[in-house]
Amino acid sequence: MASNRTFTMIKPDAFGAGNSGAILKMIEEAGFKIVAIKATQLTAELAGKFYAVHKERPFYNDLCNYMSSGPIIAAILEKDNAVEDFRKLIGATNPADAAEGTIRKLFAKSIEANAVHGSDSDENAEIEGNFYFSQFERVL
Ligand code: PPS
Repeated sequence: MASNRTFTMIKPDAFGAGNSGAILKMIEEAGFKIVAIKATQLTAELAGKFYAVHKERPFYNDLCNYMSSGPIIAAILEKDNAVEDFRKLIGATNPADAAEGTIRKLFAKSIEANAVHGSDSDENAEIEGNFYFSQFERVL
């Protein structure tokens, strides 16, 4: 059965451009409930742990440096069919391929600076949410 939670980050490009509020508004208006949220900044080492699944890919170091280059917002979101519905809301990883009206089409600058992260599976949503939030920092 699909889980009803997913995990997101508003990335340094969108945070730095002052788009966090507009993005969170789109997320809530699409029916997602924010059940955990924080503003923070990763070190390159922590970004490396978060993105360890990509460590053999050629862009891994760039991605880790980029994701630790400025503040981000991390959040756990709740909705039926959360992972799939959220990936539809944010659009394709590369904003050049993202559908009209999606968050990445509106706010992303490049495949790296692509405004938001969204978990790609229920299992990763759980792992990623647990990376940032303890049981006391989320709505039960
Ligand atoms: S996905 O969503 O996992 O299917 O996308 P994927 O293409 O596998 O990309 C995974 C994350 O890597 C980032 N990415 C890049 N960063 C820098 N340079 C290049 N060329 C590049 N290609 C992909 C991409 O923004 C994805 O980040 P997240 O946070 O998972 O969205």
